[in-house]
Amino acid sequence: MKSLLLRLLLAGDYVSGEVISEQLNVSRTAVWKQIKALKEQGYTIQSTTNKGYNLLQAPDTVYAHDIEARVQTKTFGRDVIAYDSVPSTQPMAHQAATNGSHEGTLIVANEQTEGRGRLGREWVVEKEQTISMSLILRPTIPLTRAPQLTLVAAVAVARAIEKVAPIDCEIKWPNDLMVNGKKLVGILTEMAADPDQLHYVIVGIGINCHQGKMEFHNQVKDVATSIYAECGQKINRSTLIAEVMNEFEWLYQSYVNDGFQAIKTLWEARALSLQQRVIARTPKGTFSGFAYGITDEGQLRLREDNGQEHLIYSADIEL
Ligand code: BTN
Repeated sequence: MKSLLLRLLLAGDYVSGEVISEQLNVSRTAVWKQIKALKEQGYTIQSTTNKGYNLLQAPDTVYAHDIEARVQTKTFGRDVIAYDSVPSTQPMAHQAATNGSHEGTLIVANEQTEGRGRLGREWVVEKEQTISMSLILRPTIPLTRAPQLTLVAAVAVARAIEKVAPIDCEIKWPNDLMVNGKKLVGILTEMAADPDQLHYVIVGIGINCHQGKMEFHNQVKDVATSIYAECGQKINRSTLIAEVMNEFEWLYQSYVNDGFQAIKTLWEARALSLQQRVIARTPKGTFSGFAYGITDEGQLRLREDNGQEHLIYSADIEL
């Protein structure tokens, strides 16, 4: 009920208690109690006789009901499981998926104490400064196409960020979102599969939001950035999460129904690591050469100086 009430409050200025109780099919007292509960959670709501309730400000906390109230989707982010602090949202999402949670279920946390990055690295985040979320997908695609999902996610997150903040995101293959040469977003795609069948995919997304330029810890201070550091705005994290869900859902549907081609074009338009020399550190070794494109499966095409060509499936790219 809280998310439906918040959806009504987000839709306009004043909403009368009568309209709310009719729409939600609950008593006026129940409405009043929920308004009180919202206020206790940090929402500023003006109550005026004969006019009703007016939401003036929402807190920057990743409450499940808040994200659910903001999404304009069929399934993505309609069911949110929110934690204050977890080691990582990835295992929580795997657990939810194993227990049968449906496609589009989103796991979010205000804090991760043991965040996981790509290639076995850690992903360190500061409490309430970032977005840490993991989305459950159940695509009916061949296993070999699963890596493409990571590129779909990168395009979706880039578009969502640009809707809420005045910054332009580029993508470093496969899915690091970069702004002015620094990393703003990391995406970790994990899947559960048999040799011939994909069971589910977890797309983990970490977005640096509120850190000041000097607040990044030593290890990443020269290579990481945040939305605030780039444009001086502290965006509302639930608003951005909902926007990611909106963008991701339609791009994902387009990808599942019509294939990778349209996504590939959108991805290439933002590509930072193409048509230039790169160093690719892969699990099979380090290759240095010219990155001249991506395949229809989403792998990076790299040509070494000796003419040898490689299709890179997984790597850390240095420009
Ligand atoms: C990278 O190495 O660039 C990927 C980082 C992915 C971080 C996100 S934050 C939400 C989810 N939970 C994790 O532990 N990792 C991913």
